[in-house]
Amino acid sequence: MTTTLPPISTLIGPQAPPSLPQIPYQRWAYNNPPKDPTHRFTHKTVLVTGSNTGLGFEAALKFARLDAAHLILAVRTPTKGEAAKQRIIAATNYPEKRITVLKLDQNSFVSVNEFLVNLEKLLGAERGLDVVVLNAGIAAPRYKVNAETGWEEALQVNVLGTAMVGMGVMRFLKRASAARGKGELGQLTLTGSVGHMYVKREDFRGLLEAKDGGLLEVVSSKEFFGVEKSYCAIKVLTMYVMRGLMDCARRENGELGVWVNVVCPGFCVTELGREFPWYFVWMTRMMHWYCGRTAEQGGRSLVSATLLGEEGHGGYWVNDGLAR
Ligand SMILES: NC(=O)c1ccc[n+]([C@@H]2O[C@H](COP(=O)([O-])OP(=O)(O)OC[C@H]3O[C@@H](n4cnc5c(N)ncnc54)[C@H](OP(=O)(O)O)[C@@H]3O)[C@@H](O)[C@H]2O)c1
Repeated sequence: MTTTLPPISTLIGPQAPPSLPQIPYQRWAYNNPPKDPTHRFTHKTVLVTGSNTGLGFEAALKFARLDAAHLILAVRTPTKGEAAKQRIIAATNYPEKRITVLKLDQNSFVSVNEFLVNLEKLLGAERGLDVVVLNAGIAAPRYKVNAETGWEEALQVNVLGTAMVGMGVMRFLKRASAARGKGELGQLTLTGSVGHMYVKREDFRGLLEAKDGGLLEVVSSKEFFGVEKSYCAIKVLTMYVMRGLMDCARRENGELGVWVNVVCPGFCVTELGREFPWYFVWMTRMMHWYCGRTAEQGGRSLVSATLLGEEGHGGYWVNDGLAR
């Protein structure tokens, strides 16, 4: 298959020693930040969700620096998206007409639908999307049910909202792949976390039986909720979303039309814990001081994950290494 992507060997970095406990692992990751990708995105249309701040913003800034033809910032609050757009322009001289801000609130399926309609209108005559990074997410500080959908809020935003956006953008990614002909496919990357490996079978004991085996119902329930436990379970579900999107990535004739993968940026200093109670904020600050990568360093992984091509399909990209 001919592609313009860099050889994956140029993206791979040093790997963490096997079986490190959680804190020494994070410290190793802090001391070994990911490589900053230099491959250009010229002629490519790139969409990043949750791109007004944190990892999504840093990734969007890099895509602009790397000459993406059109950058779409999908954000919950358009004014924050406009401010991010101006920061990107100020930092890179990126032409204003090549950035579009679109509203997307993953708390609401209605908003996701409206976003997809607006995206269709925007792309209109264009050939579609080349790269999509589904990054928007929250860490829920307390148990809260979404009034519109009835699901626990973080599950709604990080898993269900993300899955719906992913299914919705597939056709635009396939359209761009088809326009390129045989060769490079569109790329969809989901922001996951190493936290998916910390989930324990015991966390679900008794609950799955009580909910007739419904994993979503268990993770959405008050009995299951715990700040860290729920976040990690949600990142397991992100891996399932990748699996589902890999099915959606096939064309009617069964051929693959889009590459899909998951990236973990490592533990990074962002606004993720902004609504945590004070004791959690202090704990997080200490952890940030000891082993927090910068958001810019985390953003590197979001961008390099989109360069993995066929080898990265169905994979999990972390610390410049690919796991399955
Ligand atoms: N930071 C880490 O250490 C770390 C590690 C592994 C994975 N991650 C993952 O990385 C992703 C980005 O997190 P971050 O650390 O960059 O956090 P962040 O600074 O809080 O950024 C989160 C982004 O998601 C957006 N968002 C939140 N709720 C949304 C909704 N309902 N609809 C649409 N967008 C929404 C936020 O928009 P607003 O600003 O408008 O709220 C913001 O742009 C998340 O999926 C997170 O789980 C983070």
